[in-house]
Amino acid sequence: MSERVRVMLTEQQVNDRIKEIGEQISKDYAGKSVHLVCVLKGGSFFMCELAKRITVPVTLDFMSASSYGSSTKSSGVVKIVKDLDEPLKDKNVLVVEDIVDSGRTLSYLLKMLGDRGPASVKLCTLLDKPERRVTDVKVDYTGFEIPDEFVVGYGLDYDQRYRNLPYIGVVEFD
Ligand code: IMP
Ligand code: MG
Repeated sequence: MSERVRVMLTEQQVNDRIKEIGEQISKDYAGKSVHLVCVLKGGSFFMCELAKRITVPVTLDFMSASSYGSSTKSSGVVKIVKDLDEPLKDKNVLVVEDIVDSGRTLSYLLKMLGDRGPASVKLCTLLDKPERRVTDVKVDYTGFEIPDEFVVGYGLDYDQRYRNLPYIGVVEFD
């Protein structure tokens, strides 16, 4: 069986949209600083590009959560693989994710982070698949709403591969 990647969103489209979101965040957080919480590994490419486009003071931290297994479906059981280094007390936290799919991972993480006394917690995702949602999650900034297809690139993987693609694509098999 061979694999190909069909382009869904080009590098230019993704980068243009990230620039717009960065400008919006800079406006919304004017006079404040923003603490970006990257959800590894998928959120890392997006967070780096986004951080460069934000003009208010930015601090960064990283965490890693995984749903068990390496299949293309989220199991709903969230495991914290790596926790944050810094406390969140009184910070304006902006969680940066690659994709919100079922919403299970994010609803768990947002609750956990909200319990640590931040001034605010918001969510920014590059991609959203609203059709797949099983849990209510409030998304504050969305790059693109996409149909229910399994996508790779810009941090997103298929069995750990394709994260480094500079665009968003769909893996096809023949
Ligand atoms: P959830 O279903 O919203 O909990 O999504 C959990 C995680 O599944 C996401 O953070 C991604 O790492 C992964 N995921 C969901 N949809 C896709 C996809 O289309 N491509 C690659 N990873 C995905
Ligand atoms: Mg992820």
